Amino acid sequence: MRLAPRIALLASVAALGASAASANELRDTALEYFKPLPSTVPAVADNPITKEKIDLGKALFFDPRLSASGVFSCYSCHNLTTGGDDNMETSVGHGWQKGPRNSPTVLNAVFNEAQFWDGRADDLKAQAKGPIQAGVEMANTPENVVATLSSMGQYVEWFEESFPDEAEPVSFDNMAKAIEAFEATLLTPAPFDSWLNGDDNALSEDQIAGLELFMDKGCVACHAGVNIGGEGYYPFGLIEKPGSDILPEGDRGRFAVTDTVDDEYVFRAGPLRNIALTAPYFHSGKVWDLKVAVQIMAESQLGEELSDEEAGKIVAFLGGLTGEMPVITTPVLPAETATTPRPTA
Ligand code: HEM
Ligand code: HEM
Repeated sequence: MRLAPRIALLASVAALGASAASANELRDTALEYFKPLPSTVPAVADNPITKEKIDLGKALFFDPRLSASGVFSCYSCHNLTTGGDDNMETSVGHGWQKGPRNSPTVLNAVFNEAQFWDGRADDLKAQAKGPIQAGVEMANTPENVVATLSSMGQYVEWFEESFPDEAEPVSFDNMAKAIEAFEATLLTPAPFDSWLNGDDNALSEDQIAGLELFMDKGCVACHAGVNIGGEGYYPFGLIEKPGSDILPEGDRGRFAVTDTVDDEYVFRAGPLRNIALTAPYFHSGKVWDLKVAVQIMAESQLGEELSDEEAGKIVAFLGGLTGEMPVITTPVLPAETATTPRPTA
């Protein structure tokens, strides 16, 4: 080999070594903040997960008869074909009423420290009892739900198989536990997980640059862990409060949970997995463009103005959090019987 090409080769090998070393350094730094998604269904508190419970939970998740009208199921507002949410500004529920908040995704929700934008439910089983009774969502009562489920022999059998040692397996609590078991299976491994697990090629150059910005600018201070968020509570508008078009004054966030002045306009940092699929953004659902949402975050939470290019790179990184969707076959639900309570208007 002539000298010049040999030097060029040595230089490119050295550059390759350097870039591999810096990729490893970046990964080590990233692993201080983020955790890859586990490859198996995680354990949840006080609710051993079994196949029977998962299957029952899936049927319940899809069953509109959990709502008083027989129209709304969990799936109505958490559509698993469109990112686990409803892609509306705020959800539409019982009697076509519009609720006050945007529907978050149920995908990977098991990893959130607590559920809802204000964290008012400790876990998924506590959460599931909320919408069924909420007047603007499913408007039902626990008694009517139990009467509905008990009226169908197939459901009774599924509850008995799922809660074998219990005297009264068909209960509102067990319904919530079965739904939690199903939701715990809704995991979406993403290119970012492959990258964290050592695959240098899983993210594009722009996505890597976006990850660096996400860490350097300080987004990670609030969006970290397995779900890149969903772990802590912060004022929306820590540095600069957004206008009431984005942060409506009537919803004071965690204040309603803790009754503490310090918690006014405090919300859980949004979990960012699959964020590219779940527009519109924020609890108010007022922002449809992810790049705009990123720029609002930078200004309101960090007092930073991002250039269009920087925001674009962060959006590219966030695209690397779009995961592989769980394969779900639609369940066949038991048919009503003569004793099944009829839908109300
Ligand atoms: C929040 C599941 C029914 C709209 C949530 C969350 C979960 C969930 C896990 C919290 C996610 C998070 O905090 O990141 C369920 C289940 C349902 C159900 C299992 C059936 C039993 C519905 C229905 C609607 C709806 C029918 C629409 C009418 C919403 C909204 C929120 C939410 C707007 C956010 C509320 C807030 O933060 O105050 N749901 N959901 N959900 N869901 Fe549902
Ligand atoms: C929500 C990204 C910095 C706290 C969000 C959302 C995005 C995002 C896309 C919307 C989630 C959704 O609609 O589902 C970013 C980026 C950041 C950043 C790219 C850096 C430029 C921060 C920081 C904090 C924070 C530093 C804490 C001080 C929150 C909170 C929410 C949120 C509390 C929920 C807001 C609401 O009530 O709607 N973030 N974030 N974020 N983030 Fe950030």
